[in-house]
Amino acid sequence: MKWTAELLFNHLKDVTLGGSICVYTLDICETLVPKINAIMKLKKEKNAIVLAHSYVVPEIIKTVSDFTGDSYELSKKAKDSSADIIIFSAVKFMAETAKLINPNKDVYIPSDLNGCSLADSITGDDVKQLRKKYPDYTFVCYINTTVDVKAECDVCVTSSNVYSIVESLPNKNIYFLPDKLMGQNLKNELKKRGSDKNILFSEGTCYVHEEYHPDMIDFIRLKHDDVSILAHPECSEDIISKVDFTGSTSQMVNYVNQSPKSKFFMLTECGLTSRMQADSPKKSFVGTCTMCKYMKSNSLDDILNTLENLPEHKKISIPKSTQEKALNCINKMFELA
Ligand code: 13P
Ligand code: SF4
Repeated sequence: MKWTAELLFNHLKDVTLGGSICVYTLDICETLVPKINAIMKLKKEKNAIVLAHSYVVPEIIKTVSDFTGDSYELSKKAKDSSADIIIFSAVKFMAETAKLINPNKDVYIPSDLNGCSLADSITGDDVKQLRKKYPDYTFVCYINTTVDVKAECDVCVTSSNVYSIVESLPNKNIYFLPDKLMGQNLKNELKKRGSDKNILFSEGTCYVHEEYHPDMIDFIRLKHDDVSILAHPECSEDIISKVDFTGSTSQMVNYVNQSPKSKFFMLTECGLTSRMQADSPKKSFVGTCTMCKYMKSNSLDDILNTLENLPEHKKISIPKSTQEKALNCINKMFELA
């Protein structure tokens, strides 16, 4: 498909959230289209695909991305793909997961600012120490962790399956890492379900989701009495107890698409709301924009440059010593999910 500025403008004109980096006038679309068409051509020539997380800028999601979704769906897509090259437009831990599942494929991370406050909060050595301290515990890691951390854990989870996987584990003693807010939400949810798990968790947070204050919810409900409020499980328990729905980014998309309501407030990185604004112009979205600087550093320029030059420093490589152990941790998730 060949993109024109008019076509792109029609796709993105309803996006209002995302500050100055998500503004789509016809003039701005004119400047984006040559890069988009160059990426489309290179993808074909090199048998490459672009996988994008819902938080990246809409001009990537709407055009060059072959698939956009949450962490779990992206890792499944990477597993099923027949492409030789995967360009992962997201953050590094997600690209590492794709490489673990596809050791024979070349996986690239186009952006240089590709961290995550959760993944950067704990190391593999930290987990080794914790395991010595808590030998009777099953170690469950959120997918937002480095490959070294996954190599030291028993099973990986994502925001879409954390509650059901932990509930299904035979051990009563669970150490969940690295997100303390999700850990507390997990504890609350399993208690609600009647499960008697003994859950400990570490101290990491997502710097985007920890910012929300429960007063915001009261304020939005006061101003919009017909609004549906959704939150990501990386938010605090005070938020989760007040919202209508909690789920992964893709579960939120499904909830909005299936809801008879027309107005929504989503407590998560605003890229998801921008995506929904572009995809569902008949629904309306209220709220503020909170951005993840890592996700938002993904650009068409970096994707184009990566596809053109396949730079070695952007290629994900995983040491043999961690590959097998970390893959076991991911495979355990696929088995239980
Ligand atoms: P999802 O798996 O829900 O997309 O979450 C990933 C993430 O990083 C949320 O901040
Ligand atoms: Fe990490 Fe938070 Fe950004 Fe998600 S939004 S990638 S958890 S820093």
